[in-house]
Amino acid sequence: MSNVAIRNLQIQLGGNKVIESLNLDVKAGEFVVLLGPSGCGKSTLLHSIAGLIDTSAGQIEIGGKDMTWADPKDRGIALVFQSYALYPTMNVESNMSFGLRINGTPKAEIARRVSRASDMLQLGPLLKRKPANLSGGQRQRVAIGRAIVREADVMLFDEPLSNLDAKLRTELRRELKQLHKQLGATMIYVTHDQVEAMTLAQRMAVMKGGVVQQFDTPDIIYNTPANLFVATFLGSPGMNLFKGEVEQQGGRAIFSNQHMSVDVTGYPFKAPLAGKHACVLGVRPEDIDVGHSDGAGQTMRASVSLIEAMGAHRVVWLDFHGTQVAGIVQDQQQIETESSITFSVRTSRISLFDGASEQRL
Ligand SMILES: Nc1ncnc2c1ncn2[C@@H]1O[C@H](COP(=O)(O)OP(=O)(O)OP(=O)(O)O)[C@@H](O)[C@H]1O
Ligand SMILES: [Mg+2]
Repeated sequence: MSNVAIRNLQIQLGGNKVIESLNLDVKAGEFVVLLGPSGCGKSTLLHSIAGLIDTSAGQIEIGGKDMTWADPKDRGIALVFQSYALYPTMNVESNMSFGLRINGTPKAEIARRVSRASDMLQLGPLLKRKPANLSGGQRQRVAIGRAIVREADVMLFDEPLSNLDAKLRTELRRELKQLHKQLGATMIYVTHDQVEAMTLAQRMAVMKGGVVQQFDTPDIIYNTPANLFVATFLGSPGMNLFKGEVEQQGGRAIFSNQHMSVDVTGYPFKAPLAGKHACVLGVRPEDIDVGHSDGAGQTMRASVSLIEAMGAHRVVWLDFHGTQVAGIVQDQQQIETESSITFSVRTSRISLFDGASEQRL
């Protein structure tokens, strides 16, 4: 197992600064996910770790050694691409063993590794087939198998499941998690799918414009997003946002705007605020309490604009003075569209962001 440490990494591609001064510390044996919108630099970062792209500045350390300028084959890594990149003329077994054969690994050792990988990935019955005669999911398994047989300390995955249908994706996702347990290798996994990121990652780095916005456990990132971008990138429906002002006075804190006033006294502010402070209050749909007025004095009134039945719960969209507010309803209460209803915000679960910098307060 190897750690991966990235220090002040800068990457320029065709005159663009794609990554600027990026730092990331992946522990040995850890499963880290890089998550972010298309074009934010995820693949670029991954490929630079693999040694497929030259860095403009900074350092990449793998297993405690400076690998910034090392040859890809000397880095102790294996990379799985989104496109399976299998050799079409070779059968599954040869596809998996190809790399080992060209670097002169003894036959018995190759056989041991291929058999172990094909057991893990249930490829045994398919070893003699050509890629053209495999399903997408099977092809991706072979591509993963090819990485496993290298017994690399660090495995890199670039959106390996994005070409598969939803059901297969969920299945392979579970297998990958299992595989990580079995192999104990360090894994760095790129995706723009938040569910994949949340379920796979021990820690995840949320990226935007070549900059890591937050690097932490999925739980912490979901519950205490570092800024508005992270807050809105995760969650579906997205976090509800209310613009307003917050004021701390005499040990109390009140958030207010034209239409609402919420006591946020218990909020763990990072620093005390002076006077009225422009801010955005964020609350996830599951933390909007719909239809129960608990008499706490902070209930708002809205009209129901849409109800989406999701099976286990309902998403209720509320029109609150022209703003759409999403709430999740788990119980059986009767709610009808166009009706007027009360809702409240679970204040222990809110996030507050600076109105100008958009950073968490
Ligand atoms: N060879 C290149 N020359 C110039 N710019 C490039 C080059 N390759 C990538 N870029 C730019 O670098 C940025 C990051 O690209 P990258 O492929 O790393 O994004 P990504 O996060 O992997 O996106 P996706 O989710 O779409 O795969 C993009 O703006 C892209 O246009
Ligand atoms: Mg990419």
